[in-house]
Amino acid sequence: MKIQRFSKIGFVMAAAGSAVGLGNIWKFPYMTGEYGGGAFVLVYLVTIAFIGFSVMVAEMLIGALGRSDTVGSFEKLAPPGKKGWKYAGFMGFNGIIIMTFYSVVIGWIFYYLFTLTTGLPETTQEAKGIFEALVSNSPAVSIFFHTVAVIIVGYIVQRGIKSGIEKINLLLMPALMLILFGLLLYAFTLDGFKEAFSFMFEPKWDKLNSEAIVRAVGHSFFTLSLGMGAILTYAASLPKEANITKTALIVTFMDTLIALVAGLVIFSFLFQFGAQPQQGPGLVFISLPTILDNFGTLGIFFALLFFLALAFAGITSAISLVEPVVQYLIDRFDFTRTKAVVFISILYWIVGVAALLSYTKSYGDIFSVAQKPLFDILEYTTDSILLPLGGFLIAVFVGYILDKDRVASQLKKEMGNRLFTVWRFSIRYVAPIALVFMMLNLIGIIKL
Ligand code: PFF
Repeated sequence: MKIQRFSKIGFVMAAAGSAVGLGNIWKFPYMTGEYGGGAFVLVYLVTIAFIGFSVMVAEMLIGALGRSDTVGSFEKLAPPGKKGWKYAGFMGFNGIIIMTFYSVVIGWIFYYLFTLTTGLPETTQEAKGIFEALVSNSPAVSIFFHTVAVIIVGYIVQRGIKSGIEKINLLLMPALMLILFGLLLYAFTLDGFKEAFSFMFEPKWDKLNSEAIVRAVGHSFFTLSLGMGAILTYAASLPKEANITKTALIVTFMDTLIALVAGLVIFSFLFQFGAQPQQGPGLVFISLPTILDNFGTLGIFFALLFFLALAFAGITSAISLVEPVVQYLIDRFDFTRTKAVVFISILYWIVGVAALLSYTKSYGDIFSVAQKPLFDILEYTTDSILLPLGGFLIAVFVGYILDKDRVASQLKKEMGNRLFTVWRFSIRYVAPIALVFMMLNLIGIIKL
């Protein structure tokens, strides 16, 4: 198969672009708010350090050694007699399931970019009204912006690795960081900053329950884009001489840093004016714009910058969610890139419409199962079940199935012997056991 290669910096930015997404700037702050701050953040950081990073190295390794689409890489690397492992490669399809709701949220962000220019809501009530009008009462508007998101993402993926994915990441990632660090500098000058800092970094253990732990572990996979072959697919285009360990470290670090910065910025603004952190998914769409209104015109400017950063983060992640299946269709079914993109985009656009309708007043019942909106079902299934399952398969494959000497010869020279032993222990024992516990807990077989 023909695979284009990223440049070194292009790969780092693309992988970081995949990891840094709505998960960092929208989800992480609201989850931290919901689950009480510090203790949740600590579980998240520990999981990233001890499991997330190891699995990131493992997933990159499969891509770099396999040099194929998700299914092809597993198939190629599995020893004779174990070729059934190729089915693990179907984890690439998770991306499309994620895209069904991810593109809806990107659509909301686009809508906000438009409406905020005309002024910010003055009260929480008003802000809630705007958000609810969009999500529950205006399916046509939601569908329109969802469609715009699908088209933009499709266009970039259609341009391919070099002139689409690499190019856009090299542009948007530095822009996003500039905006967020700029906002952090400003947040620094606010009184709310101190409170935000202690909210995020002083663990309050009484707030931590088993649900919070499971969500923190699940989120650490989501945020690093692990367990669905996005990193694997990008790594198939890794330049030959790239250092996997170093790259994984940079990507993990950037992703974590940006989540923490986003949290600090949002909570500083909120606490400055005494707002509450536990607003759930509406935190960024309802609480933040209302609070920013206190800054007058400057507030509109901040809001625009913030939602622009959110849009950039969303787009660079979305393309990595679509690319694995596109690559698969090109490799396996000889699709042209354009045909693959159009086919996949239509598919997830349709389910996305059903997902967004599941939040509306008029169609909510039709698109809900057992009172649960389709949107929530899709999100929960991917974030809490499919990604950890994918992570588990990656860990077991690299830890037990893949030729040990091949793994060692690549990684020992990058990590040194001692770190390699630690990594191998993590990938063979810590990661799979933690992930099995998590999945059993989720399906209710054990209770943490
Ligand atoms: N990491 C992205 C985020 O934090 O928003 C979401 C994501 C992208 C998950 C790509 C999985 C993936 F393969």
